[in-house]
Amino acid sequence: MSWVGLGTSAAYDGVLCPAKVAVTDYPRLLEYGFRQGITWWDASPTYGTHGAIRCALRRVPRREVVLCSKTVAVSGRGARADVERALRQMGVEEIDIFLLQTMRSGLEFRIRRGAWQALQDLKREGRIRAIGVAAHGLGVLQAALHEPALDVVLGRINYAGDLMDRWQEDLPSLLAGLPPVKRLLLDLLPRSLFARLAGRVHHLRASPQEQAMARELFARLAAAGKEVLGMKIFGEGALAGDVPRAVAYAAGLPWLRAILVGACSEAEIDAVVAAASQAQGGR
Ligand SMILES: NC(=O)c1ccc[n+]([C@@H]2O[C@H](COP(=O)([O-])OP(=O)(O)OC[C@H]3O[C@@H](n4cnc5c(N)ncnc54)[C@H](OP(=O)(O)O)[C@@H]3O)[C@@H](O)[C@H]2O)c1
Repeated sequence: MSWVGLGTSAAYDGVLCPAKVAVTDYPRLLEYGFRQGITWWDASPTYGTHGAIRCALRRVPRREVVLCSKTVAVSGRGARADVERALRQMGVEEIDIFLLQTMRSGLEFRIRRGAWQALQDLKREGRIRAIGVAAHGLGVLQAALHEPALDVVLGRINYAGDLMDRWQEDLPSLLAGLPPVKRLLLDLLPRSLFARLAGRVHHLRASPQEQAMARELFARLAAAGKEVLGMKIFGEGALAGDVPRAVAYAAGLPWLRAILVGACSEAEIDAVVAAASQAQGGR
Protein backbone atom coordinates (compact mmCIF):
# COMPACT_ATOMS: atom_id res chain seq x y z
CA MET A 1 0.00 0.00 0.00
CA SER A 2 1.42 3.38 -0.99
CA TRP A 3 2.06 6.08 1.63
CA VAL A 4 -0.41 8.35 -0.19
CA GLY A 5 -3.96 7.11 -0.80
CA LEU A 6 -6.66 8.69 -2.91
CA GLY A 7 -9.96 9.48 -1.19
CA THR A 8 -13.03 9.58 -3.39
CA SER A 9 -15.29 11.81 -1.29
CA ALA A 10 -14.63 14.76 -3.63
CA ALA A 11 -17.29 13.13 -5.83
CA TYR A 12 -19.80 13.12 -2.95
CA ASP A 13 -22.78 15.33 -3.72
CA GLY A 14 -23.99 15.69 -0.14
CA VAL A 15 -26.37 17.98 1.71
CA LEU A 16 -23.64 20.09 3.23
CA CYS A 17 -20.95 19.79 0.54
CA PRO A 18 -21.50 19.74 -3.22
CA ALA A 19 -19.38 17.39 -5.34
CA LYS A 20 -16.05 18.79 -6.59
CA VAL A 21 -15.50 16.07 -9.21
CA ALA A 22 -18.09 14.32 -11.39
CA VAL A 23 -18.31 10.69 -10.34
CA THR A 24 -17.91 9.74 -14.03
CA ASP A 25 -14.48 11.45 -14.04
CA TYR A 26 -13.27 9.49 -11.03
CA PRO A 27 -12.11 6.26 -12.76
CA ARG A 28 -9.72 8.30 -14.90
CA LEU A 29 -8.39 10.13 -11.83
CA LEU A 30 -7.87 6.84 -9.95
CA GLU A 31 -6.02 5.39 -12.91
CA TYR A 32 -3.89 8.54 -13.22
CA GLY A 33 -3.02 8.33 -9.50
CA PHE A 34 -2.14 4.65 -9.87
CA ARG A 35 0.30 5.50 -12.68
CA GLN A 36 1.91 8.00 -10.25
CA GLY A 37 2.29 5.27 -7.60
CA ILE A 38 -0.92 5.71 -5.55
CA THR A 39 -2.12 2.18 -4.79
CA TRP A 40 -4.69 2.79 -2.04
CA TRP A 41 -8.26 3.89 -2.86
CA ASP A 42 -10.80 4.91 -0.25
CA ALA A 43 -14.55 4.74 -0.91
CA SER A 44 -17.86 4.69 0.91
CA PRO A 45 -21.49 4.06 0.01
CA THR A 46 -22.17 7.67 1.02
CA TYR A 47 -19.67 8.95 -1.61
CA GLY A 48 -21.32 6.81 -4.31
CA THR A 49 -17.94 5.87 -5.80
CA HIS A 50 -17.91 2.05 -5.69
CA GLY A 51 -18.93 2.01 -9.36
CA ALA A 52 -16.05 4.36 -10.21
CA ILE A 53 -13.66 1.89 -8.59
CA ARG A 54 -15.18 -1.01 -10.51
CA CYS A 55 -14.67 0.97 -13.70
CA ALA A 56 -11.04 1.89 -12.82
CA LEU A 57 -10.32 -1.79 -12.08
CA ARG A 58 -10.85 -2.56 -15.79
CA ARG A 59 -7.53 -0.80 -16.42
CA VAL A 60 -5.72 -1.31 -13.10
CA PRO A 61 -4.92 -4.84 -11.83
CA ARG A 62 -7.06 -5.59 -8.77
CA ARG A 63 -4.25 -7.19 -6.79
CA GLU A 64 -2.08 -4.06 -7.14
CA VAL A 65 -4.44 -1.76 -5.21
CA VAL A 66 -5.67 -1.69 -1.62
CA LEU A 67 -9.41 -1.03 -1.49
CA CYS A 68 -11.10 0.53 1.52
CA SER A 69 -14.80 1.14 2.15
CA LYS A 70 -17.06 1.82 5.10
CA THR A 71 -20.46 1.40 6.67
CA VAL A 72 -22.62 3.79 8.66
CA ALA A 73 -24.73 0.84 9.87
CA VAL A 74 -25.66 0.36 13.51
CA SER A 75 -26.87 -3.25 13.27
CA GLY A 76 -25.06 -6.39 12.21
CA ARG A 77 -27.56 -7.00 9.45
CA GLY A 78 -27.00 -3.47 8.09
CA ALA A 79 -23.21 -3.79 8.14
CA ARG A 80 -23.33 -7.18 6.41
CA ALA A 81 -25.62 -5.77 3.71
CA ASP A 82 -23.22 -2.82 3.20
CA VAL A 83 -20.21 -5.14 2.81
CA GLU A 84 -22.06 -7.38 0.37
CA ARG A 85 -23.24 -4.36 -1.63
CA ALA A 86 -19.72 -2.88 -1.70
CA LEU A 87 -18.28 -6.20 -2.97
CA ARG A 88 -20.93 -6.34 -5.69
CA GLN A 89 -20.63 -2.68 -6.70
CA MET A 90 -16.81 -2.77 -6.87
CA GLY A 91 -16.94 -6.17 -8.61
CA VAL A 92 -14.37 -7.77 -6.29
CA GLU A 93 -14.18 -10.95 -4.22
CA GLU A 94 -12.67 -9.32 -1.15
CA ILE A 95 -12.19 -5.81 0.29
CA ASP A 96 -8.86 -5.02 1.95
CA ILE A 97 -10.03 -2.56 4.64
CA PHE A 98 -13.56 -2.02 5.94
CA LEU A 99 -14.36 0.65 8.53
CA LEU A 100 -17.21 1.77 10.74
CA GLN A 101 -17.72 5.24 9.27
CA THR A 102 -17.81 8.55 11.19
CA MET A 103 -17.42 7.23 14.72
CA ARG A 104 -17.32 9.97 17.37
CA SER A 105 -17.68 8.58 20.88
CA GLY A 106 -17.01 5.55 23.02
CA LEU A 107 -20.77 5.24 23.51
CA GLU A 108 -21.26 5.12 19.73
CA PHE A 109 -18.85 2.17 19.63
CA ARG A 110 -21.10 0.37 22.12
CA ILE A 111 -24.31 1.29 20.26
CA ARG A 112 -22.86 0.03 16.96
CA ARG A 113 -21.62 -3.22 18.55
CA GLY A 114 -23.81 -5.29 16.17
CA ALA A 115 -22.17 -3.71 13.11
CA TRP A 116 -18.71 -4.16 14.65
CA GLN A 117 -19.38 -7.85 15.36
CA ALA A 118 -20.55 -8.33 11.75
CA LEU A 119 -17.26 -6.87 10.43
CA GLN A 120 -15.36 -9.34 12.63
CA ASP A 121 -17.48 -12.22 11.28
CA LEU A 122 -16.99 -11.09 7.67
CA LYS A 123 -13.24 -10.94 8.24
CA ARG A 124 -13.30 -14.54 9.51
CA GLU A 125 -15.33 -15.49 6.41
CA GLY A 126 -12.63 -13.98 4.18
CA ARG A 127 -14.76 -11.24 2.63
CA ILE A 128 -12.75 -8.41 4.20
CA ARG A 129 -9.12 -8.45 5.33
CA ALA A 130 -8.73 -5.69 7.94
CA ILE A 131 -11.32 -3.83 10.02
CA GLY A 132 -11.45 -0.64 12.00
CA VAL A 133 -12.98 2.79 12.43
CA ALA A 134 -12.95 6.17 10.67
CA ALA A 135 -12.66 8.38 13.75
CA HIS A 136 -14.30 11.77 14.22
CA GLY A 137 -13.87 12.08 17.98
CA LEU A 138 -11.30 11.51 20.71
CA GLY A 139 -13.67 9.15 22.55
CA VAL A 140 -13.58 6.62 19.75
CA LEU A 141 -9.76 6.77 19.56
CA GLN A 142 -9.70 5.96 23.26
CA ALA A 143 -12.24 3.14 22.88
CA ALA A 144 -10.23 1.71 19.96
CA LEU A 145 -7.35 1.02 22.36
CA HIS A 146 -9.53 -1.57 24.08
CA GLU A 147 -10.65 -3.39 20.90
CA PRO A 148 -8.34 -6.35 20.27
CA ALA A 149 -10.12 -7.14 16.98
CA LEU A 150 -9.40 -3.69 15.55
CA ASP A 151 -6.66 -3.54 12.89
CA VAL A 152 -6.93 0.00 11.52
CA VAL A 153 -7.79 3.53 12.66
CA LEU A 154 -8.38 6.25 10.08
CA GLY A 155 -7.96 9.49 12.01
CA ARG A 156 -7.91 13.23 11.36
CA ILE A 157 -4.51 14.88 11.58
CA ASN A 158 -2.82 18.06 10.32
CA TYR A 159 -0.42 20.68 11.71
CA ALA A 160 -3.14 23.28 12.36
CA GLY A 161 -5.75 21.15 14.15
CA ASP A 162 -8.29 22.03 11.41
CA LEU A 163 -11.24 19.61 11.62
CA MET A 164 -9.23 17.39 13.96
CA ASP A 165 -10.93 15.27 16.61
CA ARG A 166 -12.40 16.71 19.80
CA TRP A 167 -14.33 15.16 22.66
CA GLN A 168 -17.75 14.53 21.10
CA GLU A 169 -19.68 12.74 23.82
CA ASP A 170 -22.67 15.15 23.66
CA LEU A 171 -26.21 14.34 22.50
CA PRO A 172 -26.08 16.11 19.06
CA SER A 173 -22.89 14.15 18.22
CA LEU A 174 -24.50 10.90 19.28
CA LEU A 175 -27.65 11.58 17.23
CA ALA A 176 -25.49 12.43 14.20
CA GLY A 177 -24.01 8.92 14.44
CA LEU A 178 -27.42 7.23 14.14
CA PRO A 179 -28.35 7.13 10.43
CA PRO A 180 -32.15 6.71 10.96
CA VAL A 181 -32.24 9.79 13.22
CA LYS A 182 -30.14 11.77 10.75
CA ARG A 183 -32.43 10.76 7.87
CA LEU A 184 -35.52 11.72 9.89
CA LEU A 185 -34.07 15.15 10.73
CA LEU A 186 -33.11 15.66 7.10
CA ASP A 187 -36.69 14.86 6.03
CA LEU A 188 -38.33 16.96 8.73
CA LEU A 189 -36.15 20.06 9.01
CA PRO A 190 -35.52 22.88 6.53
CA ARG A 191 -32.00 22.56 5.04
CA SER A 192 -30.79 25.75 6.76
CA LEU A 193 -31.81 24.48 10.23
CA PHE A 194 -30.26 21.06 9.54
CA ALA A 195 -27.02 22.80 8.52
CA ARG A 196 -27.07 24.83 11.75
CA LEU A 197 -27.51 21.68 13.84
CA ALA A 198 -24.75 19.93 11.87
CA GLY A 199 -22.50 22.87 12.76
CA ARG A 200 -22.91 21.88 16.45
CA VAL A 201 -21.30 18.54 15.62
CA HIS A 202 -18.83 19.55 12.91
CA HIS A 203 -16.19 21.61 14.77
CA LEU A 204 -13.73 23.59 12.71
CA ARG A 205 -10.68 23.49 14.93
CA ALA A 206 -9.46 21.34 17.83
CA SER A 207 -7.78 23.10 20.76
CA PRO A 208 -4.01 22.59 21.28
CA GLN A 209 -4.84 20.25 24.21
CA GLU A 210 -7.19 18.20 22.01
CA GLN A 211 -4.58 18.05 19.24
CA ALA A 212 -1.97 16.82 21.74
CA MET A 213 -4.42 14.24 23.07
CA ALA A 214 -5.16 13.00 19.53
CA ARG A 215 -1.43 12.64 18.78
CA GLU A 216 -0.90 10.76 22.04
CA LEU A 217 -3.79 8.38 21.32
CA PHE A 218 -2.56 7.75 17.75
CA ALA A 219 0.91 6.95 19.10
CA ARG A 220 -0.54 4.57 21.69
CA LEU A 221 -2.69 2.87 19.04
CA ALA A 222 0.35 2.37 16.80
CA ALA A 223 2.36 1.04 19.76
CA ALA A 224 -0.48 -1.44 20.37
CA GLY A 225 0.00 -2.76 16.83
CA LYS A 226 -2.84 -0.92 15.08
CA GLU A 227 -2.29 0.68 11.66
CA VAL A 228 -2.89 4.44 11.99
CA LEU A 229 -3.97 6.08 8.73
CA GLY A 230 -4.47 9.84 8.39
CA MET A 231 -7.07 12.02 6.71
CA LYS A 232 -7.81 15.79 6.74
CA ILE A 233 -4.14 16.37 5.92
CA PHE A 234 -5.25 19.58 4.14
CA GLY A 235 -8.15 20.26 6.56
CA GLU A 236 -10.56 19.72 3.64
CA GLY A 237 -8.67 22.32 1.61
CA ALA A 238 -8.05 25.02 4.25
CA LEU A 239 -4.33 24.08 4.37
CA ALA A 240 -3.93 23.30 0.68
CA GLY A 241 -2.22 26.65 0.03
CA ASP A 242 1.01 25.01 1.22
CA VAL A 243 0.84 21.36 0.17
CA PRO A 244 4.54 20.61 0.96
CA ARG A 245 4.14 21.88 4.54
CA ALA A 246 0.99 19.81 5.21
CA VAL A 247 2.53 16.66 3.70
CA ALA A 248 5.89 17.17 5.46
CA TYR A 249 4.10 17.45 8.81
CA ALA A 250 2.34 14.10 8.22
CA ALA A 251 5.56 12.49 6.99
CA GLY A 252 7.24 13.49 10.25
CA LEU A 253 4.75 11.57 12.42
CA PRO A 254 6.44 8.22 13.10
CA TRP A 255 3.20 6.42 14.00
CA LEU A 256 1.36 7.41 10.80
CA ARG A 257 1.38 4.49 8.32
CA ALA A 258 -0.18 6.35 5.35
CA ILE A 259 -2.30 9.38 4.41
CA LEU A 260 -5.47 9.82 2.40
CA VAL A 261 -5.90 12.97 0.34
CA GLY A 262 -8.98 14.29 -1.37
CA ALA A 263 -7.20 15.38 -4.56
CA CYS A 264 -9.65 16.51 -7.25
CA SER A 265 -7.43 16.76 -10.36
CA GLU A 266 -4.25 15.43 -11.95
CA ALA A 267 -2.47 18.65 -10.92
CA GLU A 268 -3.46 18.09 -7.26
CA ILE A 269 -2.26 14.48 -7.42
CA ASP A 270 1.05 15.64 -8.91
CA ALA A 271 1.48 18.21 -6.11
CA VAL A 272 0.91 15.61 -3.36
CA VAL A 273 3.12 12.97 -4.98
CA ALA A 274 5.95 15.51 -5.38
CA ALA A 275 5.56 16.72 -1.79
CA ALA A 276 5.48 13.14 -0.46
CA SER A 277 8.59 12.15 -2.34
CA GLN A 278 10.41 15.26 -1.10
CA ALA A 279 9.25 14.76 2.52
CA GLN A 280 10.06 11.06 2.58
CA GLY A 281 13.46 11.66 1.00
CA GLY A 282 14.20 13.84 4.00
CA ARG A 283 13.19 11.18 6.54
N1 LIG B 1 -14.29 13.76 5.27
C1 LIG B 1 -14.27 12.76 6.13
O1 LIG B 1 -14.73 12.90 7.23
C2 LIG B 1 -13.68 11.49 5.76
C3 LIG B 1 -14.00 10.34 6.45
C4 LIG B 1 -13.40 9.17 6.06
C5 LIG B 1 -12.56 9.15 5.01
N2 LIG B 1 -12.29 10.27 4.35
C6 LIG B 1 -11.39 10.15 3.23
O2 LIG B 1 -10.37 11.08 3.28
C7 LIG B 1 -10.21 11.63 1.96
C8 LIG B 1 -9.59 12.97 2.04
O3 LIG B 1 -10.56 13.91 2.39
P1 LIG B 1 -10.33 14.98 3.50
O4 LIG B 1 -11.68 15.37 3.95
O5 LIG B 1 -9.34 14.45 4.45
O6 LIG B 1 -9.75 16.21 2.67
P2 LIG B 1 -8.25 16.80 2.53
O7 LIG B 1 -7.42 15.83 1.79
O8 LIG B 1 -7.80 17.34 3.83
O9 LIG B 1 -8.58 18.05 1.62
C9 LIG B 1 -8.96 17.83 0.29
C10 LIG B 1 -9.26 19.16 -0.38
O10 LIG B 1 -8.09 19.95 -0.44
C11 LIG B 1 -8.05 20.67 -1.66
N3 LIG B 1 -6.75 20.55 -2.30
C12 LIG B 1 -6.04 21.55 -2.89
N4 LIG B 1 -4.89 21.11 -3.36
C13 LIG B 1 -4.84 19.78 -3.09
C14 LIG B 1 -3.89 18.81 -3.39
N5 LIG B 1 -2.75 19.05 -4.04
N6 LIG B 1 -4.17 17.54 -3.00
C15 LIG B 1 -5.29 17.26 -2.35
N7 LIG B 1 -6.26 18.18 -2.04
C16 LIG B 1 -6.02 19.43 -2.43
C17 LIG B 1 -9.14 20.13 -2.54
O11 LIG B 1 -10.16 21.10 -2.63
P3 LIG B 1 -10.10 22.26 -3.72
O12 LIG B 1 -9.69 21.59 -5.01
O13 LIG B 1 -11.46 22.82 -3.70
O14 LIG B 1 -9.05 23.19 -3.20
C18 LIG B 1 -9.68 18.91 -1.81
O15 LIG B 1 -11.08 18.79 -1.87
C19 LIG B 1 -11.63 11.60 1.42
O16 LIG B 1 -11.70 11.70 0.04
C20 LIG B 1 -12.12 10.30 1.94
O17 LIG B 1 -11.75 9.26 1.08
C21 LIG B 1 -12.82 11.43 4.70
